[in-house]
Amino acid sequence: MKKRELKIVFIEYDAVEELSSEDKKLIIMAKEVAETAYAPYSEFHVGAAVLLENSVYIKGNNQENVAYPSGLCAERVAVFAASSQYPGVAIKTIAISAKSKKFTVSSPVTPCGACRQVLAEYEHLQKQPIRIILSGEEGKILIIDKVEDLIPLSFKADKLKK
Ligand code: THU
Repeated sequence: MKKRELKIVFIEYDAVEELSSEDKKLIIMAKEVAETAYAPYSEFHVGAAVLLENSVYIKGNNQENVAYPSGLCAERVAVFAASSQYPGVAIKTIAISAKSKKFTVSSPVTPCGACRQVLAEYEHLQKQPIRIILSGEEGKILIIDKVEDLIPLSFKADKLKK
């Protein structure tokens, strides 16, 4: 028997002003696109902005549906759009932000398990890390250097082979 431990590292910032101009731009884009989310049921608006290696920016927001599980999170809307429009182009960074119509989102929004799994597959495929920037309406900003830190031991495609 062997006990193994995995460490997760993230950097916490107190204010957006502490970030690089590229990261600030991505957060602003994520906040902007959160405004136009289709989220009439949760009234929780999430925005995601992706920067690709070819310097293209792709945005996405959550899209809900009256049949609740049919909706999709902002992160997957953004990365699926990126992969469909620029297949094979690596994702450098994704910024995620959220605002609610009912309360102030006072801490950074963190992606759900399904979005982490999807991001993990792109990271694995592209063989280079995807940075993740998490923010709310106020409060800290978190930067995680790779998806692997958010979803260690994720399910990978090689498991489908013998
Ligand atoms: N949501 C996202 O879009 N991303 C997240 O990281 C967390 C949750 C959406 C799904 C749903 O439309 C609403 O937020 C409430 O869960």
